[in-house]
Amino acid sequence: MTLSADRIRELHRYELKILRSIEHFMERYDWVPLEHIIRNTRLSLGEIEYRIGRLISYGMVKGTMVPYQGYTLLFGGYDSLALASLAHTKVISALGDIRGEGKESVVYEAIAVGPVVVKLHHVGQRSFQSIRKNRGFMPENMHCPWVFASHYSAEQEYIALKALHEHVATPVPIAMNRNAIAMSFISGNTLNRVKLEDPLDTWEWLLGEVKKAYEMGYIHGDLSEYNIIGGPDGCFLIDWPQWVPPTHENADEILLHDITTLAAYFTRRYKLEINPKDAFFSIIRQVR
Ligand SMILES: Nc1ncnc2c1ncn2[C@@H]1O[C@H](COP(=O)(O)OP(=O)(O)O)[C@@H](O)[C@H]1O
Ligand SMILES: [Mg+2]
Repeated sequence: MTLSADRIRELHRYELKILRSIEHFMERYDWVPLEHIIRNTRLSLGEIEYRIGRLISYGMVKGTMVPYQGYTLLFGGYDSLALASLAHTKVISALGDIRGEGKESVVYEAIAVGPVVVKLHHVGQRSFQSIRKNRGFMPENMHCPWVFASHYSAEQEYIALKALHEHVATPVPIAMNRNAIAMSFISGNTLNRVKLEDPLDTWEWLLGEVKKAYEMGYIHGDLSEYNIIGGPDGCFLIDWPQWVPPTHENADEILLHDITTLAAYFTRRYKLEINPKDAFFSIIRQVR
């Protein structure tokens, strides 16, 4: 289900209140008991049932009757809370169309002081197992791991963008709420859809950006032609949630994989002769 700006603008304050209440209790329940929502929101049963019916029809909430009547958020509900907060704090004044949809996110165009995008992280349960493995970090026995995973993923990307954007060509982070990051809009297209004028020059420049990021403590971890936008303002490295530091136990392997993936693309598409191992050593040797 995809959200529209209208849908969020039209959410009634009781509907937002109910979404927040479910979010609150989801730390403790897979299905938040109706009783808790009634007590917490202090709305009448009739009002709640009417509002929840609407939230279900919007794809924001899902319900069950067994073993008791309870409700849980869906991505649409969690996204709405994040977007409503960004709008409330005046980070964004209008939400536009979908700009891109990746493996683990939906990216909307929006208006702030200038053009921005809002990236809503959607990390499902399966990918979460790998976060847990890579980072050795996740509370045991948690309810709704996708909420945690998506929030965590946004936090990680926000950390990297804040650290890097003044030195490395990345989007400028503006604000974060729950699973949402507002960041500067980069015009252009991902490299797979761009024909570069001088591919060798671009490759060398990109390698320089990867090196700067490495020196600052960030290895991208998912670098490819799909995570670089090329346009009138040059190239930008996007999509940073899975970064690892150079002290990570698999840092070398991850950096080499990043470089090999990108090199393979330049070789395939532009017939450049690149030795990824040399490129890799040119980065780590000068740093160590
Ligand atoms: N700052 C941005 N400006 C413009 N478009 C963006 C921006 N960030 C992401 N996008 C678009 O959204 C798509 C998905 O974003 P990405 O960060 O790669 O997430 P995913 O993890 O889902 O791949 C990108 O391929 C791109 O088309
Ligand atoms: Mg991506």
